[in-house]
Amino acid sequence: MITISQARTIEGELTTLEIPSQVTETLDATGLTVFPGLIDPHVHFRIPGQAYKEDWITGAQASLRGGYTTVLDMPNNVPACITPARLADKISQIESQLKTAGIPLHYGLYFGADRHHFQHLHEVRDQVVGVKVFMGSSTGDLLMDDESSLHAIFALCAKLNLLVAVHAEDECEIQAQRAHFAGTTDVSCHSKIRSPKAAEKAVKFAIDLVRLYGTRLYILHVSTQGELAQIQKAKQEGLPVFAEVCPHHLFLSEADYATLGTRGQMNPPLRTLEDQAALFQAIAAGVIDTIGSDHAPHTMAEKDLPYGQAPSGVPGIETTLPLLLTAYHQGKITLANIIRLTHSGPRALFQLPHYPDVVLVDLPAERTVHAEHLKTKCGWSPFTGKVLKGWPEYVILDKIYPVGHGRQSA
Ligand code: DOR
Ligand code: ZN
Repeated sequence: MITISQARTIEGELTTLEIPSQVTETLDATGLTVFPGLIDPHVHFRIPGQAYKEDWITGAQASLRGGYTTVLDMPNNVPACITPARLADKISQIESQLKTAGIPLHYGLYFGADRHHFQHLHEVRDQVVGVKVFMGSSTGDLLMDDESSLHAIFALCAKLNLLVAVHAEDECEIQAQRAHFAGTTDVSCHSKIRSPKAAEKAVKFAIDLVRLYGTRLYILHVSTQGELAQIQKAKQEGLPVFAEVCPHHLFLSEADYATLGTRGQMNPPLRTLEDQAALFQAIAAGVIDTIGSDHAPHTMAEKDLPYGQAPSGVPGIETTLPLLLTAYHQGKITLANIIRLTHSGPRALFQLPHYPDVVLVDLPAERTVHAEHLKTKCGWSPFTGKVLKGWPEYVILDKIYPVGHGRQSA
């Protein structure tokens, strides 16, 4: 049994927690606020194939550092996770790495949608949290941009009661804009090449498929006002449409290309400050169901290549909660909404079991994001140098993990 005394609830009431455990430990949590162990519904821990960017040892350590006890991992691995054999191999590598890390992180995996492997979906339906469909090309070779395959997968997943998670950017639209900006090394063109129109068109197509087939749809990394309007309408119609936002779209904008360069390059790309404000409004209005970090580590050497060669994606799992807590202090989001988006929302959507995991947060603590404190193998963050207010101090999983950046490391 783990006993936590003198902690506060988000309403400010003192509480004592007794958490079932093999170990007997006690912690005086004076000054700390209790949150449920966070769930990140969108990470890329790069196993198999790209362990030089991340693996499940550093990924699990980074998760705890960020206050996360559950992660859902994407299938754009090398090779992509599109067959039952590859899924089994991925699970065995993850299990072995978590054992080495000594961290019993909870996790779930998405299966990749590939038009030549539809027949496997029924075999894996009980082993995965959903099927990831790349409607536009991104990191890796997964892509399903033809209408007939999209109809087929939405119909099949509805039948199998599998959630479809979409990377919703229209490939035709991206290709057309890419031709227009051919050869540019100006990273700010990334937001024009992967235009709001590309995202809005793909979201429209996906929602139309939900209308036809009744598929449960999870729209990943919503970044534009146009997508939000369509999602709000779909929800009002009663369609099973759910939406995620990412910290980089909430806390960065196109203006940040000037300082970040290609380190600010991700798919979907950075948007305007108006889009950013609309995402916060949509959170408050209940249009958004989850926050996913889209933790997508690439090495600094890769990221610092010129635009056109640098890969898209930023790490995020260690900074998401401090960013959200900073926004709470600024009056931009409530603590209740932070818990809804990082715990109860994803738990309900993915029908995850209830775990008694807890993260104890030092709400008034102000710290600077330092690259050397990060556990992610890629060793950098687009938020380096930012002073954030509100940091996780302890995570209670199987035991007590001190994760405060000023304290002993996880
Ligand atoms: O920016 C991105 N990075 N977007 C994606 O869709 C994939 C991700 C990655 O895996 O690097
Ligand atoms: Zn992603």
